[in-house]
Amino acid sequence: MPFTIAIDGPAAAGKGTISKAVAAHYGFAHLDTGLLYRAVGARMLDGVEPIEAAQTLTSKDLEAPDLRSHEVAQAASKVAAIPEVREALVDFQRAFAQRQGGAVLDGRDIGTVICPEAEAKLYVTASAEVRAGRRYKELQGKGSELSFDAVLAEVKERDARDSERASAPMKPAADAVLIDTSELSIEDAVAAAIHAVDAKRAAG
Ligand code: DC
Repeated sequence: MPFTIAIDGPAAAGKGTISKAVAAHYGFAHLDTGLLYRAVGARMLDGVEPIEAAQTLTSKDLEAPDLRSHEVAQAASKVAAIPEVREALVDFQRAFAQRQGGAVLDGRDIGTVICPEAEAKLYVTASAEVRAGRRYKELQGKGSELSFDAVLAEVKERDARDSERASAPMKPAADAVLIDTSELSIEDAVAAAIHAVDAKRAAG
């Protein structure tokens, strides 16, 4: 039986780490849907029209080396506001969710739009300051000279764009379990997520 776990929330809240750990815990397949928008954003930066980029996306595009850069993140957030771009990516995500053996999808609209019937939904968040602090440390580790304030401004700009767009805005599904990781260690956040999913599995 397919069992879908939808994990949504803003950037740098710990969604990716939690999603990977939850998928490993249950032996489920994992799809980071942000990567799809990043791949479209990267192609747009290369001069391809975004709707065409989304409609012709291949698995090779998901392996481009710079998808984690913050230029690509901002481009991803921009192309993600275009309804035709989102539409072009729906079928792939839904097919992934239907895998036998279970799937974890993480993104912004999984519990609300892509998989409203998901058996378990989590919304992972943290304050903008905590999230910017995590991103800042990560960027410093890569030798970036961006200031904390610049990183915080970017986090807030991307949050605003992702949550205020008309098409599938970022928001918790009505039946999502909220996990605020501002004050949680990675281990505690993962344990909270697994606890919430176990409760749904027991109930289902
Ligand atoms: O999760 P991420 O930072 O890799 O996502 C990059 C951008 O893609 C994000 O700013 C908004 C967009 N996105 C989206 O609109 N819907 C999703 N399901 C996943 C990502």
